[in-house]
Amino acid sequence: MAIERTLAIIKPDAVGRGQQGEILARIHKAGFRIVAIKSMRLTKEEAGGFYYVHRERSFYGELTDFMSSGKIFAMVLEAEGAIAKWRDTMGATDPKKAAPGTIRHNLGTSIGNNCVHGSDAPETAAFEIGYFFSGLELI
Ligand code: RTP
Ligand code: MG
Repeated sequence: MAIERTLAIIKPDAVGRGQQGEILARIHKAGFRIVAIKSMRLTKEEAGGFYYVHRERSFYGELTDFMSSGKIFAMVLEAEGAIAKWRDTMGATDPKKAAPGTIRHNLGTSIGNNCVHGSDAPETAAFEIGYFFSGLELI
C-alpha cells in the first residue's frame, strides 16, 4: 500500500474537554506520523467552506455552528493507507455505531459531537490539506 496523507481535525467538543492529549496518544499508538499540526478557532464562514460538500444537507447549519464554536486542532497525518487507516481509528460517524476501541466510540457523545474529522478520499484529502496548510508547512 502507498504512503498517503490525510487531514485530521480534533473537533471543538473534544478540545473543550481537554481530550487532545488522549487523541494525540491514540494517533501515535496507531502509527501515524504527524506531518503538521496547528490549533485555531474557525469562523462560521471558514467552517462552511471546509464542509462545502454538505451545503445542501439538513445538518449543514448545525455542523458549521458546532465547528466554529471553539478551538480545533487541525493536522496532517501520514501512514500507509492513511485515509482508510484514520477513518478506522476514528470509527463510524455516529458514536453509537462506532466499533469498540475507536475514538468516536470511546469519546464521542452524539453524531454531531463526534470528536474528530477525517478525509474520506484522496481528492478530499488534497482539498482539505490545502485548506489548512501551505506547501511550506508540509515539508
Ligand atoms: P467528518 O467529515 O466530520 O469526518 O465525518 P464523516 O465523514 O464520518 O461524516 P460526514 O457524512 O462527512 O458528515 C460530516 C459531519 O456532519 C455531522 N453529521 N450530522 N445530524 C446528522 O444526521 C449528521 N450527519 C452528519 C457529523 O458530525 C459528521 O461528522
Ligand atoms: Mg466526512
